[in-house]
Amino acid sequence: MYQLNYRSKAAPNLTQEDINNILNTATTVNEEKNITGCLIYHNDSFVQILEGKKEDVLDVYEKIKNDPRHYDVHLLWENNVNGRYFEEWSMAFHNPENKGIQLFINNLLIFSEITDRSSGSLYSFWGNVRRVLLGGSPSVPETI
Ligand SMILES: Cc1cc2nc3c(=O)[nH]c(=O)nc-3n(C[C@H](O)[C@H](O)[C@H](O)COP(=O)(O)O)c2cc1C
Repeated sequence: MYQLNYRSKAAPNLTQEDINNILNTATTVNEEKNITGCLIYHNDSFVQILEGKKEDVLDVYEKIKNDPRHYDVHLLWENNVNGRYFEEWSMAFHNPENKGIQLFINNLLIFSEITDRSSGSLYSFWGNVRRVLLGGSPSVPETI
């Protein structure tokens, strides 16, 4: 099982319809390829995790990198892993309202060149996103 995370900036004037189209394609293609993951949209930026068979994940990432609906695509982390974080979703979508998750994303976007982007910090981040998607509360502070 292979896992890949990147962040990117949304193209100027990206509409809700564009996002719906991205999600429609993503869920259809990913289902065919047994890829799962999560797409976060926040502050005109995307953060995405893709997981599946290595060659399929890299194929899809190659297409995503060339997609004009975003730019500045920057790989955060990729590696072999034991299991999936988002096995229930071909592509979950999250537009975070939780302040702790927003703060983490903001830091990730600002400091992704230099910050600790080890699997550990991303693991706890995606774990929190997963908890929120399932209707729970993240184990990060609501306010700062
Ligand atoms: C932010 C973002 C996330 C995307 N996520 C996926 C995805 O998870 N899976 C996917 O197949 N396409 C995704 N796409 C769409 C691909 O870039 C591409 O349009 C799609 O794979 C169809 O490519 P094709 O028409 O060349 O076959 C995403 C696009 C953007 C801008």
